[in-house]
Amino acid sequence: MSAIRAAVLEAVGDLGVGEVDLEEPRAGEVLVRVTDCGVCHSDLSVVDGALPAPVPVVLGHEAAGVVEATGPGVERLQAGDKVVLTPLPSCGRCYFCTRGNPTLCAEYSSALFTSTRPDGTTPLSRGGAPVHRGLGIGGWAERVVVPQEGAVKVDDDVDLAEACVIGCAVQTGVGAVLETARVEEGATVLVLGAGGIGIAVVQGARLAGASVIAVVDPVAERREAALRFGATHAVDPGEVDVTTFAMDLTSVGMDYCFEAAGVAALIEQGIDAVRPGGTVVCVGAAPIDQGITIPIAAAFTTTEKRLVGCLLGSVNAHRDIPRLLALARAGRLDLRGMITDRYPLDEVGAAVDNLRQRRGIRTTLRIG
Ligand SMILES: NC(=O)c1ccc[n+]([C@@H]2O[C@H](COP(=O)([O-])OP(=O)(O)OC[C@H]3O[C@@H](n4cnc5c(N)ncnc54)[C@H](O)[C@@H]3O)[C@@H](O)[C@H]2O)c1
Ligand SMILES: [Zn+2]
Ligand SMILES: [Zn+2]
Repeated sequence: MSAIRAAVLEAVGDLGVGEVDLEEPRAGEVLVRVTDCGVCHSDLSVVDGALPAPVPVVLGHEAAGVVEATGPGVERLQAGDKVVLTPLPSCGRCYFCTRGNPTLCAEYSSALFTSTRPDGTTPLSRGGAPVHRGLGIGGWAERVVVPQEGAVKVDDDVDLAEACVIGCAVQTGVGAVLETARVEEGATVLVLGAGGIGIAVVQGARLAGASVIAVVDPVAERREAALRFGATHAVDPGEVDVTTFAMDLTSVGMDYCFEAAGVAALIEQGIDAVRPGGTVVCVGAAPIDQGITIPIAAAFTTTEKRLVGCLLGSVNAHRDIPRLLALARAGRLDLRGMITDRYPLDEVGAAVDNLRQRRGIRTTLRIG
């Protein structure tokens, strides 16, 4: 057991930095010194109560760092290895992993709701009482203990300050395009929301060779950023009707729409904006009290539209994190450009507020 500094959410809206105790790694786990961790809207939704989580909890699930110690039986990693962490490890053995759905792993995906290890325990505590580990990592902390499957070794020369955004934003956004939807070359793509996830979707659509990448976001700075990252069009939803815009652009509707804002009503907007046979990918995680309605079921049936969920871009982290780093190295994926602010751990409140106020694209914490 060792004492570490961490950002602890005590209750909705009550986020502070203090000391917690961290267990030594158990069998199959590794202890990682966190160097950098991003701030994602999924964390903000927990802080603000839009998505429920047990408290107290250490949030932060977009992290990179250096392995400091390994538990018994760990063969994949050793002390000194640089790693990018993934919030959804896959065991490789369960029903879902063996059928090509690694992010739905029966062993690890329950952590999304329990904020614990699969057995209900957590490596974090304070005064002997458990502290939850948010979204499988708890990365707004000096150190984390995670399963070895959740830490992907990267080359020694990788800049972890950049690479951390792969953990969530880039795995999710690029994966949504390449894995969840499997967008084909020449396709037309609509992206609703241009925050960290939406910008990564834009980068994925560019990698896929989409012919039209149209972005919708009310924030002018984010629309401008989207154009720099490869969008072909960027519009303000306050100024255009999105369905009309999609029809004007393509005459039939978009081939694909990615909801990346986390507003359930935008999924309905996406269903209207895609062509018959088109696909709507739900990437955003809307507040728990929001649902969607398909007003005319027969119209959905007869237009053969497809509505698809997307968890962390349907990635296989051990395959995709090295692949995404290779694309970045080749200049085909811009990680650095996504990071618009870096704050120390003690200023986590300001970093979260940056996201709440939609300033920049991605804010990260530089921790150690
Ligand atoms: N599916 C997953 O595995 C996964 C992973 C990470 C994040 N998420 C979710 O993705 C969503 C986006 O996360 P983020 O970190 O990029 O958040 P963000 O706050 O940085 O970005 C959201 C963007 O949506 C824009 N927006 C708001 N209303 C809009 C509208 N009417 N039309 C178009 N755009 C609008 C905002 O201006 C903002 O730029 C969140 O809901 C988050 O919880 C899901
Ligand atoms: Zn996230
Ligand atoms: Zn599994």
